[in-house]
Amino acid sequence: MTQPHELEALAVDIAREAGELARVRRTQGVAIAATKSAIADIVTEADREVEALIRARLRAERPGDGFLGEESGAERGTTDLTWVVDPIDGTVNYAYGIPAYAVSIAVVTGEPDPESWRAVAAAVFSPAAGELFQAAVDGGATLNGDRLAVNAEPTAAGALLATGFGYDPSTHAGDLARVARVMPLARDLRRIGAASLDFAYVACGRLDGYFERGLQPWDHAAGALLVTEAGGRVGGVGSGGGRPGRAMSVAAGPGLFDALLAAAIGD
Ligand code: IPD
Repeated sequence: MTQPHELEALAVDIAREAGELARVRRTQGVAIAATKSAIADIVTEADREVEALIRARLRAERPGDGFLGEESGAERGTTDLTWVVDPIDGTVNYAYGIPAYAVSIAVVTGEPDPESWRAVAAAVFSPAAGELFQAAVDGGATLNGDRLAVNAEPTAAGALLATGFGYDPSTHAGDLARVARVMPLARDLRRIGAASLDFAYVACGRLDGYFERGLQPWDHAAGALLVTEAGGRVGGVGSGGGRPGRAMSVAAGPGLFDALLAAAIGD
Protein backbone atom coordinates (compact mmCIF):
# COMPACT_ATOMS: atom_id res chain seq x y z
CA MET A 1 0.00 0.00 0.00
CA THR A 2 1.23 3.47 -0.86
CA GLN A 3 2.30 5.41 2.22
CA PRO A 4 0.59 8.71 3.12
CA HIS A 5 3.84 10.66 2.75
CA GLU A 6 4.24 9.36 -0.82
CA LEU A 7 0.70 10.48 -1.68
CA GLU A 8 1.45 13.82 0.00
CA ALA A 9 4.56 14.22 -2.17
CA LEU A 10 2.54 13.56 -5.31
CA ALA A 11 -0.21 15.99 -4.24
CA VAL A 12 2.45 18.64 -3.62
CA ASP A 13 4.19 18.07 -6.93
CA ILE A 14 0.94 18.31 -8.90
CA ALA A 15 -0.34 21.29 -6.89
CA ARG A 16 2.86 23.20 -7.63
CA GLU A 17 2.65 22.52 -11.36
CA ALA A 18 -1.07 23.32 -11.45
CA GLY A 19 -0.60 26.50 -9.43
CA GLU A 20 2.12 27.71 -11.74
CA LEU A 21 -0.19 27.17 -14.72
CA ALA A 22 -2.95 29.14 -12.97
CA ARG A 23 -0.51 31.95 -12.15
CA VAL A 24 0.73 32.19 -15.74
CA ARG A 25 -2.80 32.11 -17.17
CA ARG A 26 -3.75 34.91 -14.76
CA THR A 27 -0.98 37.12 -16.16
CA GLN A 28 -2.35 36.46 -19.66
CA GLY A 29 -5.88 37.60 -18.74
CA VAL A 30 -8.87 35.66 -17.46
CA ALA A 31 -11.83 34.56 -19.57
CA ILE A 32 -15.07 33.57 -17.86
CA ALA A 33 -16.09 30.29 -19.50
CA ALA A 34 -19.57 29.88 -17.98
CA THR A 35 -21.75 30.44 -14.96
CA LYS A 36 -22.75 27.43 -12.87
CA SER A 37 -25.19 27.18 -9.92
CA ALA A 38 -25.92 30.94 -9.90
CA ILE A 39 -24.94 33.95 -11.98
CA ALA A 40 -22.23 34.76 -9.41
CA ASP A 41 -20.85 31.19 -9.55
CA ILE A 42 -18.34 31.31 -12.39
CA VAL A 43 -15.82 29.02 -14.02
CA THR A 44 -12.91 30.40 -16.00
CA GLU A 45 -11.07 28.78 -18.90
CA ALA A 46 -8.14 28.47 -16.48
CA ASP A 47 -10.19 26.45 -13.94
CA ARG A 48 -10.92 23.90 -16.67
CA GLU A 49 -7.39 23.82 -18.03
CA VAL A 50 -5.84 23.47 -14.57
CA GLU A 51 -8.22 20.67 -13.60
CA ALA A 52 -7.45 18.88 -16.89
CA LEU A 53 -3.74 19.08 -16.08
CA ILE A 54 -4.28 17.66 -12.58
CA ARG A 55 -6.53 14.89 -13.87
CA ALA A 56 -4.07 13.92 -16.62
CA ARG A 57 -1.16 13.76 -14.16
CA LEU A 58 -3.15 11.61 -11.76
CA ARG A 59 -4.32 9.34 -14.57
CA ALA A 60 -0.70 8.84 -15.63
CA GLU A 61 0.70 8.30 -12.12
CA ARG A 62 -2.23 6.72 -10.25
CA PRO A 63 -4.41 5.14 -12.98
CA GLY A 64 -6.50 3.05 -10.57
CA ASP A 65 -7.50 5.84 -8.20
CA GLY A 66 -10.83 7.64 -8.29
CA PHE A 67 -11.27 11.33 -9.00
CA LEU A 68 -13.71 13.98 -7.78
CA GLY A 69 -13.13 17.43 -9.27
CA GLU A 70 -15.04 20.68 -9.14
CA GLU A 71 -15.07 21.20 -12.89
CA SER A 72 -14.96 17.76 -14.49
CA GLY A 73 -16.93 15.59 -12.09
CA ALA A 74 -16.46 12.19 -10.49
CA GLU A 75 -14.96 8.92 -11.67
CA ARG A 76 -14.79 5.88 -9.42
CA GLY A 77 -11.48 4.06 -9.23
CA THR A 78 -10.46 0.48 -8.65
CA THR A 79 -8.37 1.29 -5.55
CA ASP A 80 -9.67 2.57 -2.22
CA LEU A 81 -8.31 6.08 -2.96
CA THR A 82 -10.04 9.11 -4.47
CA TRP A 83 -8.41 12.44 -5.35
CA VAL A 84 -10.60 15.41 -4.47
CA VAL A 85 -9.61 18.50 -6.42
CA ASP A 86 -10.48 22.17 -6.65
CA PRO A 87 -8.22 23.45 -9.45
CA ILE A 88 -8.69 27.12 -8.56
CA ASP A 89 -10.38 27.70 -5.22
CA GLY A 90 -11.28 31.36 -5.02
CA THR A 91 -12.31 31.67 -8.66
CA VAL A 92 -14.01 35.02 -8.13
CA ASN A 93 -10.83 36.43 -6.55
CA TYR A 94 -8.87 34.98 -9.47
CA ALA A 95 -11.18 36.58 -12.00
CA TYR A 96 -10.93 39.98 -10.29
CA GLY A 97 -7.16 39.83 -9.84
CA ILE A 98 -7.24 39.37 -6.06
CA PRO A 99 -4.33 37.06 -5.23
CA ALA A 100 -6.22 34.90 -2.66
CA TYR A 101 -6.73 31.79 -4.75
CA ALA A 102 -5.29 28.30 -4.41
CA VAL A 103 -5.03 24.84 -5.92
CA SER A 104 -6.53 22.35 -3.45
CA ILE A 105 -5.77 18.63 -3.76
CA ALA A 106 -6.69 15.92 -1.24
CA VAL A 107 -6.56 12.16 -1.44
CA VAL A 108 -9.07 10.23 0.66
CA THR A 109 -9.83 6.57 1.45
CA GLY A 110 -13.20 4.89 1.64
CA GLU A 111 -16.39 5.84 -0.15
CA PRO A 112 -15.92 9.13 -2.03
CA ASP A 113 -18.37 10.74 0.38
CA PRO A 114 -17.29 13.47 2.82
CA GLU A 115 -19.65 12.03 5.45
CA SER A 116 -17.46 8.93 5.74
CA TRP A 117 -14.14 9.33 3.92
CA ARG A 118 -10.79 9.57 5.69
CA ALA A 119 -8.33 12.09 4.30
CA VAL A 120 -4.84 10.67 3.79
CA ALA A 121 -2.86 13.56 2.35
CA ALA A 122 -3.41 17.12 1.18
CA ALA A 123 -1.77 20.05 -0.58
CA VAL A 124 -3.05 23.63 -0.82
CA PHE A 125 -0.85 25.84 -2.97
CA SER A 126 -1.30 29.60 -3.18
CA PRO A 127 0.79 30.55 -6.22
CA ALA A 128 0.47 34.32 -5.85
CA ALA A 129 1.85 34.11 -2.29
CA GLY A 130 4.30 31.30 -3.02
CA GLU A 131 2.82 29.40 -0.07
CA LEU A 132 2.51 25.64 -0.01
CA PHE A 133 0.50 24.05 2.80
CA GLN A 134 0.69 20.27 3.01
CA ALA A 135 -0.23 17.43 5.34
CA ALA A 136 -0.29 13.67 5.64
CA VAL A 137 -2.46 11.84 8.12
CA ASP A 138 -0.61 11.41 11.41
CA GLY A 139 2.37 13.16 9.82
CA GLY A 140 1.61 16.78 10.71
CA ALA A 141 1.03 19.83 8.55
CA THR A 142 3.58 22.29 7.20
CA LEU A 143 3.76 25.64 5.40
CA ASN A 144 6.78 25.86 3.10
CA GLY A 145 8.40 23.21 5.29
CA ASP A 146 7.66 24.79 8.69
CA ARG A 147 5.51 22.75 11.07
CA LEU A 148 2.04 24.22 11.71
CA ALA A 149 0.03 24.53 14.93
CA VAL A 150 -3.39 26.10 15.39
CA ASN A 151 -3.99 28.73 18.05
CA ALA A 152 -5.09 26.74 21.08
CA GLU A 153 -7.21 29.64 22.41
CA PRO A 154 -8.20 33.05 21.06
CA THR A 155 -6.68 36.01 22.89
CA ALA A 156 -8.69 38.07 25.39
CA ALA A 157 -9.60 40.42 22.53
CA GLY A 158 -11.67 37.67 20.95
CA ALA A 159 -11.23 35.39 17.97
CA LEU A 160 -10.11 36.45 14.51
CA LEU A 161 -12.63 34.59 12.37
CA ALA A 162 -13.37 34.07 8.70
CA THR A 163 -16.49 33.04 6.86
CA GLY A 164 -17.90 32.86 3.36
CA PHE A 165 -21.21 33.35 1.60
CA GLY A 166 -22.68 30.99 -0.95
CA TYR A 167 -23.48 32.11 -4.47
CA ASP A 168 -27.24 31.56 -4.05
CA PRO A 169 -28.82 34.87 -2.97
CA SER A 170 -31.64 33.02 -1.19
CA THR A 171 -29.16 31.83 1.43
CA HIS A 172 -27.73 35.24 2.28
CA ALA A 173 -30.26 36.19 4.97
CA GLY A 174 -29.42 32.99 6.87
CA ASP A 175 -25.69 33.60 6.41
CA LEU A 176 -26.02 37.12 7.85
CA ALA A 177 -28.08 35.86 10.80
CA ARG A 178 -25.27 33.38 11.49
CA VAL A 179 -22.69 36.16 11.40
CA ALA A 180 -24.76 38.05 13.98
CA ARG A 181 -24.78 34.98 16.26
CA VAL A 182 -21.03 34.44 15.91
CA MET A 183 -19.86 38.05 16.30
CA PRO A 184 -19.87 38.04 20.13
CA LEU A 185 -16.96 35.57 19.89
CA ALA A 186 -15.03 37.69 17.40
CA ARG A 187 -12.49 40.46 17.52
CA ASP A 188 -13.05 40.78 13.76
CA LEU A 189 -14.28 38.83 10.77
CA ARG A 190 -12.59 38.17 7.40
CA ARG A 191 -14.10 37.02 4.09
CA ILE A 192 -11.03 35.81 2.26
CA GLY A 193 -12.86 34.20 -0.66
CA ALA A 194 -11.12 30.82 -0.88
CA ALA A 195 -12.25 28.13 1.54
CA SER A 196 -9.05 26.11 1.24
CA LEU A 197 -7.08 29.15 2.38
CA ASP A 198 -9.52 29.78 5.24
CA PHE A 199 -8.78 26.28 6.53
CA ALA A 200 -5.05 26.69 5.85
CA TYR A 201 -4.97 29.97 7.78
CA VAL A 202 -6.65 28.32 10.77
CA ALA A 203 -4.01 25.58 10.55
CA CYS A 204 -1.16 28.10 10.72
CA GLY A 205 -2.72 30.40 13.33
CA ARG A 206 -3.46 33.37 11.05
CA LEU A 207 -7.10 32.81 11.95
CA ASP A 208 -8.57 31.49 15.19
CA GLY A 209 -11.57 29.98 13.46
CA TYR A 210 -13.60 29.65 10.26
CA PHE A 211 -17.22 28.79 9.57
CA GLU A 212 -19.24 28.54 6.37
CA ARG A 213 -22.47 26.98 5.12
CA GLY A 214 -22.70 25.52 1.62
CA LEU A 215 -19.20 24.15 1.02
CA GLN A 216 -18.68 21.47 -1.59
CA PRO A 217 -16.43 18.43 -0.94
CA TRP A 218 -13.50 19.90 -2.91
CA ASP A 219 -13.69 23.13 -0.88
CA HIS A 220 -12.94 21.41 2.43
CA ALA A 221 -11.26 18.04 1.69
CA ALA A 222 -7.66 19.26 1.77
CA GLY A 223 -8.08 22.16 4.20
CA ALA A 224 -9.75 20.03 6.86
CA LEU A 225 -6.74 17.69 7.00
CA LEU A 226 -4.38 20.66 7.35
CA VAL A 227 -6.36 21.81 10.41
CA THR A 228 -6.58 18.44 12.15
CA GLU A 229 -2.89 17.73 11.49
CA ALA A 230 -2.09 21.13 13.02
CA GLY A 231 -3.93 20.16 16.22
CA GLY A 232 -7.26 21.79 15.43
CA ARG A 233 -10.79 20.48 15.13
CA VAL A 234 -13.16 20.44 12.17
CA GLY A 235 -16.84 19.62 12.11
CA GLY A 236 -20.29 20.48 10.95
CA VAL A 237 -23.83 19.39 11.59
CA GLY A 238 -24.45 15.97 13.11
CA SER A 239 -23.69 13.86 16.12
CA GLY A 240 -20.42 14.41 17.95
CA GLY A 241 -19.71 17.70 16.15
CA GLY A 242 -20.41 16.24 12.71
CA ARG A 243 -18.16 16.54 9.70
CA PRO A 244 -17.53 19.50 7.41
CA GLY A 245 -20.07 19.64 4.62
CA ARG A 246 -22.78 21.59 2.84
CA ALA A 247 -24.89 22.11 5.95
CA MET A 248 -21.99 23.65 7.90
CA SER A 249 -18.22 23.59 8.09
CA VAL A 250 -16.34 24.82 11.14
CA ALA A 251 -12.60 24.78 11.85
CA ALA A 252 -10.89 26.13 14.96
CA GLY A 253 -8.40 25.47 17.69
CA PRO A 254 -9.56 23.24 20.55
CA GLY A 255 -10.35 26.14 22.91
CA LEU A 256 -12.78 27.80 20.49
CA PHE A 257 -14.28 24.98 18.45
CA ASP A 258 -17.32 24.04 20.55
CA ALA A 259 -18.46 27.63 21.08
CA LEU A 260 -17.95 28.53 17.43
CA LEU A 261 -19.82 25.44 16.20
CA ALA A 262 -22.73 26.10 18.59
CA ALA A 263 -23.01 29.74 17.45
CA ALA A 264 -22.65 28.83 13.77
CA ILE A 265 -25.41 26.21 13.80
CA GLY A 266 -27.61 28.21 16.16
CA ASP A 267 -27.62 25.87 19.15
C1 IPD B 1 -15.59 29.04 -3.42
C2 IPD B 1 -14.66 29.68 -2.43
C3 IPD B 1 -15.40 30.64 -1.54
C4 IPD B 1 -16.56 29.97 -0.84
C5 IPD B 1 -17.47 29.30 -1.85
C6 IPD B 1 -16.69 28.33 -2.70
P1 IPD B 1 -14.64 28.33 -5.81
O1 IPD B 1 -14.89 28.09 -4.22
O2 IPD B 1 -14.01 28.70 -1.66
O3 IPD B 1 -14.58 31.18 -0.53
O4 IPD B 1 -17.27 30.94 -0.13
O5 IPD B 1 -18.48 28.60 -1.13
O6 IPD B 1 -17.55 27.74 -3.66
O7 IPD B 1 -15.99 28.38 -6.45
O8 IPD B 1 -13.91 29.61 -5.94
O9 IPD B 1 -13.85 27.14 -6.22
